[in-house]
Amino acid sequence: MIQGDDADFQALMEKITRDRGFRCASYKDKCLRRRIAVRMRAKGTFTPSEYAGVLDTDPREYERLLRSLTVNVTKFFRNWDTYSAIESKVIPALWQLPDRELRIWSAGCSSGEEPYSIGILLHKYAAETREPARLESVTILGTDIDGDRLGEAERAFYAESALGDTPAALRERYFPQVAGLHTMLPDVKRLVSFECNDLLSHQPPLEDVHLLLCRNVIIYFEREAQDALFKEFHRVLAPGGFLVLGKVETLLGEARGLFAPVNARERIFRKV
Ligand SMILES: C[S@@+](CC[C@H](N)C(=O)[O-])C[C@H]1O[C@@H](n2cnc3c(N)ncnc32)[C@H](O)[C@@H]1O
Repeated sequence: MIQGDDADFQALMEKITRDRGFRCASYKDKCLRRRIAVRMRAKGTFTPSEYAGVLDTDPREYERLLRSLTVNVTKFFRNWDTYSAIESKVIPALWQLPDRELRIWSAGCSSGEEPYSIGILLHKYAAETREPARLESVTILGTDIDGDRLGEAERAFYAESALGDTPAALRERYFPQVAGLHTMLPDVKRLVSFECNDLLSHQPPLEDVHLLLCRNVIIYFEREAQDALFKEFHRVLAPGGFLVLGKVETLLGEARGLFAPVNARERIFRKV
């Protein structure tokens, strides 16, 4: 556990926010404390103020700390059952929308596996319905607060471990190999773009969104920040737009009245 008084820890939080724009106050305290304690131990420091001194002299440690605070774990088709429900229920509904433009936002996309997974399912559906031209009006935007992970997303070279949940047929068709790594089929890659965006800045990068995925991100936020984000998601979604959360996340309080469950188990909701 972190030694030093609470004011010392609060001062460190404020410093991180001031120096790097990472809004510590909106993240769950317990989670931040645990991760910071690991970094403090790794640097042989005992109090938050001692560790703040290390951050001042070692920019590489700052990067390590931020990397640990953002929790970038992800993979292609993470929780396949959710993607299976998206494939069978959400994509056909999106295809039927009168609006020819389809706007999809993967918020907190880390190194891109989530938006590319959606791109693959859309590409597959367009091929099955013999409407490949429809893909020309598809926008998939992946955003994250972590610029380094977005750089990886843009390069799109993935190790075997990133494909853990990917069904064999999709793996063969969509992931050409280069020098022992998996890349993304160009026809899918061109559907997806990336942009740095801090969800807590409340400046959403898209409007009239038809499908918004925000999975395994809000779980790290305090309740107040979650409430504000659910309201914002409701606002940016087009009428009848879909919201997908992570398997252990759920709508709370007022937000329950803003969305109707499509598949409660897979955390798929629709704007009402
Ligand atoms: C555990 S990953 C989830 C990746 C993917 N959505 C998934 O479910 O596999 C959480 C991501 O949220 C991002 N994140 C954390 N705080 C954020 C914020 N304030 N704004 C945008 N992204 C944030 C992290 O950088 C990280 O890449």
